[in-house]
Amino acid sequence: MKAIRSEIVDELKRDVSFPAERFMTLFKQPDIAERGDLALPCFPFAKELKRKPDEIARDWAARFAGKPLFAKVEAEGPFLNFTFSGPELARRIVPATLAAGEAYGNGAEGRGKTVVLDFSSPNIAKPIAFHHIRSTVIGNAIANLHEARGWKAVRINYLGDWGTQFGKLIVAYKRWGDEQELRRKEIRHLLDVYVRFHKEVETQPELEDEARQWFVRMEQGDEEALALWRLFYDISLKEFGRIYDRLKIRFDHFDGESLYRDRLDEVIRLVDEKVGTTVSEGAVIVDLTDAKLPPCLLRKSDGATLYATRDIAAAIDRYERFHFDRLLYVVAHQQSLHFSQFFKVLERMGYPWAKSLEHIAFGMLGLKDRTMSTRKGEVIFLDEVLDKSVALALDAVREKNAELADKEGVAAMVGVGAIVFGDLVNRRTNDVTFEWERILSFQGETGVYVQYGYARSRSMHRKAGALDRSLFDPALLDRAEERDVLKLIGEFPDRLEYACEACDPSVVARHLVELCRAFNRVYTIEGYRFLAEDAALRATRLMLAEATTIVLKRGLSLLGLEAPEEM
Ligand code: ARG
Repeated sequence: MKAIRSEIVDELKRDVSFPAERFMTLFKQPDIAERGDLALPCFPFAKELKRKPDEIARDWAARFAGKPLFAKVEAEGPFLNFTFSGPELARRIVPATLAAGEAYGNGAEGRGKTVVLDFSSPNIAKPIAFHHIRSTVIGNAIANLHEARGWKAVRINYLGDWGTQFGKLIVAYKRWGDEQELRRKEIRHLLDVYVRFHKEVETQPELEDEARQWFVRMEQGDEEALALWRLFYDISLKEFGRIYDRLKIRFDHFDGESLYRDRLDEVIRLVDEKVGTTVSEGAVIVDLTDAKLPPCLLRKSDGATLYATRDIAAAIDRYERFHFDRLLYVVAHQQSLHFSQFFKVLERMGYPWAKSLEHIAFGMLGLKDRTMSTRKGEVIFLDEVLDKSVALALDAVREKNAELADKEGVAAMVGVGAIVFGDLVNRRTNDVTFEWERILSFQGETGVYVQYGYARSRSMHRKAGALDRSLFDPALLDRAEERDVLKLIGEFPDRLEYACEACDPSVVARHLVELCRAFNRVYTIEGYRFLAEDAALRATRLMLAEATTIVLKRGLSLLGLEAPEEM
């Protein structure tokens, strides 16, 4: 569709000195569908042309008379409204989509550029909490989108694997830990003893000091401390790996906070040299008053380093290793202040790349039905939510299609997909509340809905058998419903480009829902049959359906969902 907009611009741009790039951004969706497919407001040209926008619109409309791409070009007040010809769209879009196949939607803006994504990044030694799904699936989708648009993406899981909490865990494990329990319950045993620490510390505050000492020992490279930490680390990674496998998400690097433990003195020295630090109540800080920010804490009075210290070290390291053009931190908006602070420190250190750092913040996630949390008020774990969703999907699959061969396989795709899509369909910055009925509904803006749209079209193709593409006749795709589908297929690459730039996968999720809806409207045209008697009609309609499935599958896959061939 971008190519089409630029054709319009080419036709008009010689009349005005308006830069073509900005010209391209002027187009709007007409408020009322009857007005057409695309509207160009003519106000921006009035001054230069010394004429009323209405007159410009009227004049320009005449330019498009007789052009095959348009069924109608009309002036409506100051707007120039374009209605595309369905057959002409079909001629341009369908063969191109089929030819591109799985590569449909790809772009080249990112060629030669690198994006580094810091996402998921859970804290070790406890199971991944449900709300961590957000960073995980949003980050994954944004990485996929960048790859689709030509970027090289580097996926980093910045595990929370260093900090005073591991001192606490060492104390707790040494007191209440049990090797057999650990083997049996794995990460959950670590959580148990950690929870116990917080209970016991209320009556034994000295535990707190002990914990601090253990963390200091960790930072000094003490063997016993590090052996325990290693044990916690390995158990955690085993558990996390299982979850990432279920979600079909992979990382290029598991580079946690601990990677930087030996470079922190050097980093603090560097900050001091380039920006200057102050000592406040024994702690080392960077004063950020003139940036209207609270001070950035680099070292506590007991000598321990902090989250910000490690993030500064990590950013420098990532630039040295990857020379990124974009470094994206996909992290909840609660951490905004932390990011503003250490971004500011890096900027003041004079790194030109500091402006390429972005905090990709997102809203909170909740479950409406919290009955699944075992003990009240406790965190909900991601694997439990996935289990429940897959179980519910299995019930639905059994009920809807008793004949289906691989019910478990489909239930896994649908159940996990429901959670992933249920998250991604929301604008990234919004808060999200999950309701089981809603995210697993076969209607509405759900993964199931899109997967079902895909599976249904695939079954139709299986029934149709081999298809003679040479019979394609775009003139046969002249219904308004078909034109809507064509437009959405044609817009898909543009939507990917935008979603990538804005780091918002919801743009893609919503587009898929819209496409499914439009496609269903074709299905329900009175008397309409894809498997028509007439061979040309049949081939042409099936090719439209095939182009639709290409977009659905590609879109789902970019979002991290699988597309079942049958449901
Ligand atoms: N581990 C942190 C948490 O669970 C998220 C880390 C985000 N990334 C970063 N570079 N600070 O909240």
